[in-house]
Amino acid sequence: MLKQEAEDGQTSLADPHFRADVLNGLARRPRAIPARWFYDRRGSELFEQITELPEYYPTRTEMAILEQACPEVAEIAGTGRAVVEFGSGSSTKTPILLRAASPSAYVPIDISGDFLRASSKQLSHAFPDLLVLPFEADFMRPLTLPRTIVDTPKLGFFPGSTIGNMIPLMAVDLLRTMRASLGVGAMLLIGMDRIKDPGVLVPAYDDAAGVTAAFNMNLLDRINRELDGTIPLEAFRHRAIWNDDRARIEMHLEATEKADFTVDGRAFSIAEGETIHTENSHKYGPRDARILLRSGGWTPIAEWTDAKDRFALYLAEAQEERPAP
Ligand code: AVJ
Repeated sequence: MLKQEAEDGQTSLADPHFRADVLNGLARRPRAIPARWFYDRRGSELFEQITELPEYYPTRTEMAILEQACPEVAEIAGTGRAVVEFGSGSSTKTPILLRAASPSAYVPIDISGDFLRASSKQLSHAFPDLLVLPFEADFMRPLTLPRTIVDTPKLGFFPGSTIGNMIPLMAVDLLRTMRASLGVGAMLLIGMDRIKDPGVLVPAYDDAAGVTAAFNMNLLDRINRELDGTIPLEAFRHRAIWNDDRARIEMHLEATEKADFTVDGRAFSIAEGETIHTENSHKYGPRDARILLRSGGWTPIAEWTDAKDRFALYLAEAQEERPAP
């Protein structure tokens, strides 16, 4: 296996899942690499910058909705639940919920252990009386929660419209997995981005300052660094397109000229105009959002949006299955 220098200067093995996803993704037609690989250290920094861009409305819009909605969430869900956050990352939105919901415990779940421990520590400082139980796991898989909270009612938290990264088939799968993990009686607070004017959507994913372009291009740079790649970055450009049929923004890396390169010793050739599909960001209208939740076993209970209806927050409940009709 390939040995390489990690960012901290230590020798480490390249992630075999990353290698497999990249090699398979480049060999396939259409070429596609899963969006989760954007988030190395540089990619995570660039994403933080994206959230502050004037064109990128989702983060600040959702934050404002959370400020307004969380007291009502606490009224409906009651206090003392265990808050379980899926893909907690830097946990920037979490304090708004924790302040309002006074949970008995907070379980941040993230695949990146370092990130998880750092942000858990910060939260423990801000909420000294809160039991914080960081959980290093892939939230896409079924999980067994810490024993201390088995009998505590749960409140799942899945902000950021991360569900939009998944095609509906996978989104429904994930919602069902969350239902199985959290149990009947659990509630879920989830953010979803709305379908809107492509004149607003496209610039949010193709900003004037070029930060999103850098975020997308960083994937190629990461491949070159971690998988011994020779991809000529100057032969690619960032593209964001609105796919109306599938109600999603797609990000692609488009070859502006024919390019030949190798990754991990394997040769690839991409024609001018051909793209590597790197991300989907699905958008949901009000009815779409509710049927998605129901398909995943979650009954919508309450819904909040901003004045322009750009972004929506849903509170849903995992109710006992009742025989139909
Ligand atoms: C973190 C998946 C919600 O789809 O809006 C932002 C990622 N990609 N700009 C999104 C992203 C390009 C973001 N999510």
